[in-house]
Amino acid sequence: MPSPSPIEAPEHVLQLLSQLHKISLEQEAAISKTGKVMSSDVLDDLEGKQPDRAPKSEFDTLMLDKFIALDEDKCHFVYQLINATGATNVVEAGTSFGVSTIYLALAVAKTKAATGKPGKVIGTEKEIQKAETARKYWKQCGEVVEREIDLRVGDLLETLKEDLPEVDLLLLDIWSALALPTLKTVLPKLRYGAVVLADNTTSGAKGYADLLAYLRAPENGFHNTTLPYTNGFEMSVYLPKSK
Ligand SMILES: C[S@@+](CC[C@H](N)C(=O)[O-])C[C@H]1O[C@@H](n2cnc3c(N)ncnc32)[C@H](O)[C@@H]1O
Repeated sequence: MPSPSPIEAPEHVLQLLSQLHKISLEQEAAISKTGKVMSSDVLDDLEGKQPDRAPKSEFDTLMLDKFIALDEDKCHFVYQLINATGATNVVEAGTSFGVSTIYLALAVAKTKAATGKPGKVIGTEKEIQKAETARKYWKQCGEVVEREIDLRVGDLLETLKEDLPEVDLLLLDIWSALALPTLKTVLPKLRYGAVVLADNTTSGAKGYADLLAYLRAPENGFHNTTLPYTNGFEMSVYLPKSK
């Protein structure tokens, strides 16, 4: 029998999370051949790596009202990992309607309380309407979530360039073509032992080829494990020789 949920949060937050995951899965099933949008060839085709088949703007338009939330079990894992490592500064690349962000905020609130360290969740979303909806959900959650989040609206390759603290954990839940540029933007701020998580790295291996090659090149200092969640969830620990 699987463990009960590890998430400690007010009942109304837990209910909102289940509701949002449900909507997200229903949306994904509706637009994907396989039932998981990020895993499908449909997404690979659309995502802009092959612009002749679907221009990026068309893909972005399709995604404008989609949650594409990180799977619930992966959200639980990230929550556990933040608590286990005492991470207080977390960057999320790709916030969408802010579902995973709620878990990050709940965990960071706990690690800050436990360690007395400062910290925050830095979320990033380029679509203004999505950012506004995310804020609406965080407000529904209340202060416990809302006060932990610094949402940067705009292209993350710009918004993450400046004003980053030393980062304990980076969640790459972003279009695959952006994953490596995002990692390189945040890299100077990653602390020794920081964790980088990237979603759908098994099903999306083709799109992530450059990211995975970079993470796996020994000189770049990452130690990698592909966690066996649906579609793969890459966990990389940053242990460079000279940091
Ligand atoms: C997979 S979704 C994130 C899901 C979210 N982490 C969750 O679990 O609820 C990826 C999001 O990244 C956003 N995005 C795409 N390109 C971006 C960019 N250049 N800068 C910031 N956000 C971007 C998309 O609009 C989309 O909402």
